[in-house]
Amino acid sequence: MGQIRLDGIVKSYGKEVVVKNLDLTVQPGEFLTILGPSGCGKTTTLRMIAGLEEPDQGDITLGDRVVFSRSSGVVIPPEARHLGLIFQSYALWPHMNVAKNITLALKEQKISKAEIKKRLETALELVQLTGYAERYPSELSGGQQQRVAVARLIALRPSILLMDEPLSNLDAKLRTEMRASLKRLHRDLEATTVYVTHDQIEALTLSDRVIIMNEGQIMQEGSPYDIYHHPANIFVAEFIGDPGINLFSGTIANGALDCGAISIPLPDAIAKSSGNLIAGIRPEKIDVSETAIDGWREVSTEILQPTGANTILEVKAGDTPITLLQPGFMTLPESTPLWINFDHDAISFFDTDTQQNMRTEAG
Ligand SMILES: Nc1ncnc2c1ncn2[C@@H]1O[C@H](COP(=O)(O)OP(=O)(O)OP(=O)(O)O)[C@@H](O)[C@H]1O
Ligand SMILES: [Mg+2]
Repeated sequence: MGQIRLDGIVKSYGKEVVVKNLDLTVQPGEFLTILGPSGCGKTTTLRMIAGLEEPDQGDITLGDRVVFSRSSGVVIPPEARHLGLIFQSYALWPHMNVAKNITLALKEQKISKAEIKKRLETALELVQLTGYAERYPSELSGGQQQRVAVARLIALRPSILLMDEPLSNLDAKLRTEMRASLKRLHRDLEATTVYVTHDQIEALTLSDRVIIMNEGQIMQEGSPYDIYHHPANIFVAEFIGDPGINLFSGTIANGALDCGAISIPLPDAIAKSSGNLIAGIRPEKIDVSETAIDGWREVSTEILQPTGANTILEVKAGDTPITLLQPGFMTLPESTPLWINFDHDAISFFDTDTQQNMRTEAG
């Protein structure tokens, strides 16, 4: 069972440093997701673990084996690292049918014919491609090709799995189903997994731990719950959550944050300080009433977006826009008055200059 360890990894292309001194340990059997915007260095990091790219500095250890070390000159090639890989471009062999593509690596491992057949059938079933074994990649859609690549991993049963956006070519419904399949796959294989995506839903639903990366650096690492509820800084707060978090800048005055049209009570530890702050509250942490309630703030409805199970509401308190998320399918005429109330325990406060969350700093 393999631990993955990266120590002081630096990687540049020309003058651009795309991975900046990355330290990372993935525990045996853990599902770790690297999440971040396009170009932040996710694929580069995964390619270095796989051995397809050489770091400029640092060490990479898989299990108890150092597979790369700049200082001691160790470079183990990709094929000797014993990994299961799926990349953004999921390269299938075009001259081999689906069955051959899936079982090729198994034949090299001298696994019995009966076992190979069993693994092929199970893998095809899991990715919902039973009956496609004889097809060639050119006879499959992009999403089906991607599923063949996933099936190849399922059949191989590696102890370390590296996946780079394996679901990006699938339609929404299939993606939800495949997420469940991947989760089951991970549970069954108990493989140490590094999963790369820019899709926050995949990161939150699949992972034991998430690393949020930006410009080659880790912005936060934590459980999906912590990343969502206790963002370390404004970058993470805004990157996670759809619809996005509400941010209000204000000035500390009389124990509250004066944000113009709204005023937010401050926790004691922060209320004593002075100056400016930014408060953040997620759209579903704001209660909504269609009738007036004492102490609640009146707002006017601008735009409603019912998505089926939920409704996204754009409202205004004075000139300040606020996004709300309510369960159920709401239909209300424009400009309907509503009354809102913030869940004060769910508000994060960020330092205007450092952009860091003040509550997590205070513990
Ligand atoms: N072979 C290369 N030569 C030069 N620059 C590269 C090369 N590969 C990647 N880069 C640059 O390194 C940075 C990180 O790229 P990387 O592919 O790791 O991003 P990513 O986080 O995977 O993004 P995406 O979500 O778009 O896949 C980008 O600015 C990219 O342009
Ligand atoms: Mg990428």
